[in-house]
Amino acid sequence: MLHRLRFSLLAACLALSFPAAAADLDKGKEINGTCAACHSDNGQGGKKGEYPRIAGQQAKYIESQLKSFRSRTRVNIPMFPYTQERELSDDDIKDIAAYLSGIVLDTKMPTYTGNEDALTKLLMADKVMIIPRAEGDLANGEALYQKQCAACHGKTGKGRGMFPMLVGQYTNYLLRQVDLYLKGDRPHDEDGTVGRLNALKAQDIQDIMAYLTSIQEPKE
Ligand code: HEC
Ligand code: HEC
Repeated sequence: MLHRLRFSLLAACLALSFPAAAADLDKGKEINGTCAACHSDNGQGGKKGEYPRIAGQQAKYIESQLKSFRSRTRVNIPMFPYTQERELSDDDIKDIAAYLSGIVLDTKMPTYTGNEDALTKLLMADKVMIIPRAEGDLANGEALYQKQCAACHGKTGKGRGMFPMLVGQYTNYLLRQVDLYLKGDRPHDEDGTVGRLNALKAQDIQDIMAYLTSIQEPKE
């Protein structure tokens, strides 16, 4: 909560000092109407990871991916038409990225007071996203993740800047991306098809996935 308050204060200050550079969250919300058809209203994604979660993702990363889709550096046939210049300008990309990155999805079911009506309950539950536990060796997953992935994707898997969050993302989606990286169809890090992911065994990747689904809730 405090964090969000700080963020809004910061956003307000930035808006005052650089009016032209600040992202327009209302515009972002409006653009999200188009995205919701596939990624759903609060950016949770869907169909078990066919559509990735984009809520709470790093803003800089969202911007970079939308630009990659637009330039076809990253091939995404369903989204290509939405990213063409007329559909999504650089300003729109800033606005939608800021809007989506600000959506907070809970990792616990809400506690109802009993006074909510059905619609309120539905809206509360709609802001919860819990990825089912993936099978694997958690100790091996933790050791590998912390040694080989955390430097970029963050110790808690939330990502930072250009590095995407991996925790809270569909396991199926992540595995599909790893597959694309291994085949060299999507660039991961500068090493290309001889990068760090290629050095891992399939079971190691599975163990990392298991670990990622085990750390969704912050430790009390
Ligand atoms: C027609 C369906 C569709 C629509 C509409 C759509 N997307 Fe997507 N989007 C996808 C699919 C499918 C993927 C995953 C592609 C893959 O597996 O590589 C994706 C991937 C993404 C990613 C990459 C996520 C990641 O973790 O790398 C971002 C960001 C994204 N979409 C943002 C948006 C935004 C913003 C909009 C609205 C302007 C939008 N999408 C509209 C289908 C859609
Ligand atoms: C040197 C920094 C770096 C390290 C270390 C790193 N990554 Fe990444 N990772 C990236 C970047 C940058 C991207 C986004 C690439 C792009 O723009 O397409 C990414 C993207 C990903 C994605 C796709 C996420 C999405 O939403 O589409 C997965 C999955 C992933 N990394 C897994 C891993 C795993 C597992 C490890 C450890 C074995 C790891 N990465 C280590 C930099 C790194």
